[in-house]
Amino acid sequence: MTAFRITAIVVVLALVASVAIGVSPKWLSTPRTALVPTSRDGDDLTALVPGPSNLALTPPMGWNGFNRFYIKVDEASVEAAARALVASGMQSAGYVYVNLDGGWDLRERDVRNDLQPNPVKFPRGIGPVADYIHSLGLKFGIYTSAGTMNCASTSAGSFGHYQQDAVAFAAWGVDYLKVDWCHVPYDHFPGMSHRQVSEMLAMQMRQALTATGRPIVYDVNNWTDQQPWMWAKGVGQLWRTTPDIHDRFPSLLLNFTHNVSHFGQAGPGGWNDPDMLEIGNGGMSATEYQSQFSLWAEMAAPLIAGNDLTRMSPITQGILTNQAVIAVDQDPLGLQGYPVASTGGHWVLTRPLANGDRAVVLFNQTDKPATISTTLAQVGLATGTQYVLIDLWSGAGNPTVGGISAIVPAHGVVMYRISTIETPPLRI
Ligand code: GAL
Repeated sequence: MTAFRITAIVVVLALVASVAIGVSPKWLSTPRTALVPTSRDGDDLTALVPGPSNLALTPPMGWNGFNRFYIKVDEASVEAAARALVASGMQSAGYVYVNLDGGWDLRERDVRNDLQPNPVKFPRGIGPVADYIHSLGLKFGIYTSAGTMNCASTSAGSFGHYQQDAVAFAAWGVDYLKVDWCHVPYDHFPGMSHRQVSEMLAMQMRQALTATGRPIVYDVNNWTDQQPWMWAKGVGQLWRTTPDIHDRFPSLLLNFTHNVSHFGQAGPGGWNDPDMLEIGNGGMSATEYQSQFSLWAEMAAPLIAGNDLTRMSPITQGILTNQAVIAVDQDPLGLQGYPVASTGGHWVLTRPLANGDRAVVLFNQTDKPATISTTLAQVGLATGTQYVLIDLWSGAGNPTVGGISAIVPAHGVVMYRISTIETPPLRI
């Protein structure tokens, strides 16, 4: 055995041992704030990002109560969620936005044509809620519709009042605005296609938000068939690519398959959104929830938790705060992972990362456990070099020079981060 080979094996063993005893490699322990977007080829990426302050250079992370509470969130429950976000360690893991969804305002505007917070749900109005959430070191998000009503038809939308509402949101201290796509009066615009109307309205809200001077993440929640990934980049920081998610595996799968093909459109400041997380809502198994978290991270999707944070099981908490998976989602290169195989529902996805590593997900959409195999070459890595595969759910590390293979449970994933093992130069 050559000195070179012996050195390589020692390095592999040292890496594997360091993972086994809990000493994290550098990328696992790098503080998120230190992950400054450099670029793919040395340019300043921030110059390409729309909006007043280069927002969402990595996918937004936070909480929104809709998937668990529908439109019932009120002052007490949103503030309790914010406290739980801090107490559970989710804030430290990177979750920062606490967002209201539909139903916070009344059906009618007031005499000045302002949106009116529902006085039963928000007796003190919205400003004090935003202040409280900010006092916890978090950011505050709100919801409106591009049309005349929200999607549940309980509340006024912003149609005809974009500027007025943007000014109100900014005055309340809103940091994130989800604009839903219901009750849009397309017939007000004869001669224009629905998509043209939507593009125009989305841009009008962009301009209204920019005019406030406040940095507000703009979520173009156009879930229709109008392909917002083709036009919302440069308008909002994220756009929906799917129908509404439900807390069932077929829905997870549908949203994954809708989103996965749009990998070319995502990047710093503009993300594909396959809808919010269902993790912890009770309708799927822990395996399926791990799949949602892994696939969403691989696809650089926004990670907006949608469960009751005040009653979270350790399993749910463990999934939502897996730092190694979150590091993939938040990787500063901002490339969305893409599929290199999907035969028979056995998927292999690969995502290039800023430090040259790859995140690889083996996903088994079928009802039976399966061995899923790929190679370094297939996932885009140079062959002839030694690599270490770190399993991001078990923490185990294993060396490879070519093959990658794992038994993947039904509806489950195995997720790896693959790094080169740097061999010191040979001394003769
Ligand atoms: C849907 C939207 C959901 C949620 C809901 C509220 O259209 O896609 O995410 O906001 O409306 O009624």
